[in-house]
Amino acid sequence: MKASIHACGRFLLGFTLALGAVAAHAQAAATSVDVLHWWTSSSERRAADQLANQLALAGVQWKDAAIPGGGGMAAVKVLKSRVLMGDPPDVAQLIGTTLTDWADIKLVLPLNAVAQRQRWQSALFPTVLDLVTYKGDVIAAPLGIHRINTLLYNRRLFARLGMAPPRSWAQFEVAAQKLQQLGVRPLAWSDEPWQIATVFETLLLGEAGPALYQDLVVRRHAAAWMDPHVERALVRLRLLRTLAGEVPQERVWTEGARDLMNDATGMMIMGDWAKGELMAWGASPTRDFGCVEVPGTGGMHLYSIDTLAMLVSPRQHEAVQEKIAEVVVGPAAQLAYNRIKGSVPVRRDIDPSSLDGCARQSWETFANPSSARAPSLAHRMAADENIKDAVAQALWRYLTDAKSEPQETQRRLATIIRTPVMER
Ligand code: GAL
Repeated sequence: MKASIHACGRFLLGFTLALGAVAAHAQAAATSVDVLHWWTSSSERRAADQLANQLALAGVQWKDAAIPGGGGMAAVKVLKSRVLMGDPPDVAQLIGTTLTDWADIKLVLPLNAVAQRQRWQSALFPTVLDLVTYKGDVIAAPLGIHRINTLLYNRRLFARLGMAPPRSWAQFEVAAQKLQQLGVRPLAWSDEPWQIATVFETLLLGEAGPALYQDLVVRRHAAAWMDPHVERALVRLRLLRTLAGEVPQERVWTEGARDLMNDATGMMIMGDWAKGELMAWGASPTRDFGCVEVPGTGGMHLYSIDTLAMLVSPRQHEAVQEKIAEVVVGPAAQLAYNRIKGSVPVRRDIDPSSLDGCARQSWETFANPSSARAPSLAHRMAADENIKDAVAQALWRYLTDAKSEPQETQRRLATIIRTPVMER
């Protein structure tokens, strides 16, 4: 990845110089910006439209370049090829470690001036500002904080069973059995590798606890991957998959949410973008579904933070790009966008009582200094694209090969997860 990004960088730099004159002319006329992202489900689309509306009020026209595919697998590849072709978008949904890769070769516009003007230092959560700060520069505009350790449950089905949502794995197993007796699939499941990795990291945080999770995922101590807590998470992962019923399939994440909405599934472990999706379809978090922390992760916040990066572009839209950063981080856009997206504002100065119950719990947990905030591996918060993909593949192999032993997967993960070369 790094090598090809460097090739992109050299190419683009030459290209940028050559087009300098053209760009100067373009700058005067253009307020329309090309935005590459992967938000194509109902809620994602609406959330992006909401941002576009907010920007339109500020005189910026959002030209959409959405690339479908949950978790952004395809979008990241398209971005790379567009940069190589000398046609980078003006704005891209770049998140976590992918940001720093691009920043290293100077393809990301620093936003220090906006950050200072808009007082991001005091307005944003320190974890958020830290994530978008690299080598002293602010390199992205944060949009929202997703909570991965979310268990969504169908309120109608749980009411029919006379059960409260599970707070422990023992309660979860009782609920699963009762749902099965009702003829309902207890837990939504997909064999799509990024979705497997999303469930796994939640189980890992719950089994290992925040300190060991940091060791495994942030400090990436290879030896720690042989710890029995990792084995326990792998065993539970397999157990959860058996609840899928017939042979599990690779389904897009919205299908699991659809089953939850239609009473075909009792529970779903997914980032809270699934909550946004259910709400976009008209479901209510007080009437139709609810969310609790995944058992074992109470008081912990496994986060993935969506961010927009402004790319250095031959079209030279710097002033407009800075305006975008200012608008999307502003309080009005933050509330409007996150309400639809399912995530929570990155700001600490909002009123949490204006959020729905799931969001309030997420925001308050994230804001609480004594909570454990854990970066998501599956969503690029802790390791680069290659490591993330290799982890997801190793987990997929483990699950789809019934003969594969947890220890073998632990060894594989220990090899994949190398210590970061360069600490921030
Ligand atoms: C995540 C992203 C979310 C959501 C999800 C499903 O990586 O942070 O915003 O879109 O993928 O596509």
